[in-house]
Amino acid sequence: MPRPYVVVNVAMSSDGKISTRERRQVKISGKEDFARVDRLKAGSDAVMVGIGTVLADDPSLTVKSPDLIAERIARGQAEHPVRIIVDSGARTPLQASILRKGKGERVIACTEGADPDRVKALSEVAKLIVAGRERVDLDALLTELHVIGIRRLMVEGGGTLIGALFSADLVDEFSCYVGDMIIGGSEAPTPADGPGFVSEQEFTRLSLFSIERMDGGVLLRWMVEHPGDPGT
Ligand SMILES: NC(=O)c1ccc[n+]([C@@H]2O[C@H](COP(=O)([O-])OP(=O)(O)OC[C@H]3O[C@@H](n4cnc5c(N)ncnc54)[C@H](OP(=O)(O)O)[C@@H]3O)[C@@H](O)[C@H]2O)c1
Repeated sequence: MPRPYVVVNVAMSSDGKISTRERRQVKISGKEDFARVDRLKAGSDAVMVGIGTVLADDPSLTVKSPDLIAERIARGQAEHPVRIIVDSGARTPLQASILRKGKGERVIACTEGADPDRVKALSEVAKLIVAGRERVDLDALLTELHVIGIRRLMVEGGGTLIGALFSADLVDEFSCYVGDMIIGGSEAPTPADGPGFVSEQEFTRLSLFSIERMDGGVLLRWMVEHPGDPGT
């Protein structure tokens, strides 16, 4: 089934951590990377995060640059991309910034097991997509997102959601900013958390297409090789 083109964007420390062990949001990149991420967001039909990121960071996921917003409007798009939360139990707080800040459509992907009262309350502020029984079925969700017109999807985290997307072979491009610090800690989240892969045959294989010095660190951009692609 067709699905959107999926770009995962993440910022990690030099030792591969995306936040502290307390899951506290930290500044890993700088102004230049911030502007790049804003452009990536403005060029996407939708931006997606997991409920863990909503609860930890409370991001709004809006486009910040007035010029980029004006360009979107000139292209006939909404000011901000559709904002999507992967949230099996419909736990997203009604006061979350992602639901409150900026105009535009919101989607909450939940499961059949989500509390009906929460689903009802959230359906007043977002479009609810039910996919899966206990955890959101990411394959089914992406198919549904394609049906509603999402062609280019940016994923902003966190590690659990990104790990699951890699495991399901649902990522096409991986942009990883590597910042000039060590965060440390075996409990600190990494770009692809969850159970991970066991054997080398399962590893997601990447093909590096861009290296750029940025702020104090480096931006690495990789294409994802899908099993069955010619040459893989
Ligand atoms: N540096 C960066 O670029 C960056 C970006 C974003 C976030 N972060 C950091 O990442 C941390 C949050 O990451 P996180 O791993 O805790 O949370 P997350 O990946 O944002 O969300 C994970 C949650 O999504 C829900 N989910 C539903 N269906 C799923 C599925 N099929 N596969 C995977 N998850 C599914 C699960 O909760 P339910 O079962 O309740 O639905 C799961 O616990 C924070 O510390 C934040 O600061 C860093």
